[in-house]
Amino acid sequence: MTDDRVRAAYDLVAADYARLLPDTAVEAPFELGAVAQFVADVGPDARVLDAGCGAGRLLTHLHAVAPSWRLDGVDMSIGMVAEARRVAPFAEVVAGSLDALPFADAAFDAVLAWYSIIHTPTDGLHAIAGELARVLRPGGHVLLAFQSGSGARDISRAYGHELDLTAFRHTVATVGASLERTGFTVTADGTRTARGGEREAQAFVLARC
Ligand SMILES: C[S@@+](CC[C@H](N)C(=O)[O-])C[C@H]1O[C@@H](n2cnc3c(N)ncnc32)[C@H](O)[C@@H]1O
Repeated sequence: MTDDRVRAAYDLVAADYARLLPDTAVEAPFELGAVAQFVADVGPDARVLDAGCGAGRLLTHLHAVAPSWRLDGVDMSIGMVAEARRVAPFAEVVAGSLDALPFADAAFDAVLAWYSIIHTPTDGLHAIAGELARVLRPGGHVLLAFQSGSGARDISRAYGHELDLTAFRHTVATVGASLERTGFTVTADGTRTARGGEREAQAFVLARC
């Protein structure tokens, strides 16, 4: 789907997204375990980018669990950027796209992409993996989380709004392959089935460049 559609949808829902999803309470121990492994792998005193930071809830989580980190956020929705700046004043948050990140080469020790590749079809993952590799220092870490599966799902209503949005499911195999084609080594991945009211299975990939 086009960047304009994604941007417009998240601009529309930004305030309600921030209100309805203020923290990581919706994440299962499975996902939070992947974040904990990422924090351990990266170590202290790192500069870390939350790529597709949305309204900033993972920035606040990372600030709590890794207080020595210097945090940056980027998101293509200016509405989400405004919400993230409000809840994460300790972070530098700017507008930008995952496939054209507004940062210098090797600027970061690690990048988190938490449910931000979910509006990118599989054939767009390679460009994003290339940008993640470019902004990471050699040996840097990435953690991506996403809904697992194949195909696309149209979203016409979410967070109390009528929307025109498409979500693309990915697998750890396709995400891992995109990363490895760009020079990353996958260090861990995992998939769990849907639980509670979830429609989809959830997955993560941890990798190092
Ligand atoms: C489902 S939200 C997740 C936000 C946040 N990571 C969280 O977990 O709450 C997806 C976010 O990714 C952003 N996004 C999607 N595709 C993007 C892209 N290609 N470049 C930058 N941001 C993108 C959207 O604007 C939105 O804020």
